[in-house]
Formats: sequence, structure tokens, C-alpha cells
Amino acid sequence: MSKFRLAAIVGIIGWVSLVALSAQDAPKTDQGNSDQQSRGKAAYVDKCSSCHQENLKGSNETPPLTGDMFWANWETYSANNLVEQVRTTMPEDDPGKLPRQTYVDIIAYVLMFNEVPMTGDLPSDADGLKKVIIKHKD
Ligand code: HEC
Repeated sequence: MSKFRLAAIVGIIGWVSLVALSAQDAPKTDQGNSDQQSRGKAAYVDKCSSCHQENLKGSNETPPLTGDMFWANWETYSANNLVEQVRTTMPEDDPGKLPRQTYVDIIAYVLMFNEVPMTGDLPSDADGLKKVIIKHKD
């Protein structure tokens, strides 16, 4: 077998496994209950809802993460801005203590809750997160 042909075959195998892998990563449904959003919801309930409430409406000193205040503070910013804010300041009683991926999962849940348009899972890296802009659904 020529080197060229071998390279072509290796290339095709690589391509096929990439396609298979990305198919696995695809969310199970469009909005509402991808694995990431479910993980994010569980972590939110565990780590954030004691102050921000399960309905994200906040209470007393704790701002809501939905509704007019959320939009006033976050519209046109990126998911990266929100992840960075939360990662460095929350949970308020123990900031920065969760794994980065958990913060990303929680923000995926918060954005889903607010019906921010997203295609698939939120990426974990800053560059990917910067491309997800917080805006109202069409
Ligand atoms: C002990 C109570 C408490 C917990 C737990 C907590 N927060 Fe907060 N959070 C606050 C308070 C108080 C503020 C407002 C003061 C501030 O921004 O530091 C706030 C502010 C925020 C803001 C900024 C809101 C805005 O629009 O300005 C976000 C986003 C946020 N929290 C997300 C989270 C997430 C996500 C978690 C879980 C990982 C979490 N918080 C856990 C009390 C809490």
C-alpha cells in the first residue's frame, strides 16, 4: 500500500470517529434537559438556591438571576462574563470553590431558564463562552 493511500485511510478513520464523537456530544433535546443543563440544575439547587431560591427569583439581599434585573445586568454580555463573575464571587459564602466545569454547567442552566438561545452545550473554554451572547429568544 502506498504511503498516500495509507494516509487517506487513516484520515477517513479519523474523520468517521470525529463525527461519531460529536454525535455523542449533541444535546438530547433542543432546550430544557440536556445532560449539561440537568447537571447544572442539580449543582444550582445544591450550591446556589439557598440564597437565590429554586425559582431564581432571589430574596432580600440576594439578586434574582431571572427577570428584569437579570436582563438589565447581563443582556449583550457573553456567557464568559457571567461565568467569570460567578466563578470569582459565588457562592457568596465560599467563592471560587467549585470546579470550573460546574460553574459552566450552572450558567448553562441559568441561561436555559431565561430562554437564552443556545445551540448544544455551553463550551468550557473562555473563547467558546465569549461567542454565546446573552439575548432574548427571537
Ligand atoms: C450565601 C448566599 C449566596 C449563595 C449561596 C450564592 N449567592 Fe450569588 N449572590 C449573593 C448575593 C448577596 C449577591 C449580590 C452581591 C454580590 O454580587 O456579591 C449575589 C450575586 C450573584 C450574581 C450577580 C447577579 C447580578 O445580576 O448582579 C450572580 C450571577 C450570582 N450571584 C450567581 C450565583 C451562583 C451561580 C451561585 C451558586 C454557585 C450563587 N450565586 C450562590 C448571594 C449568594
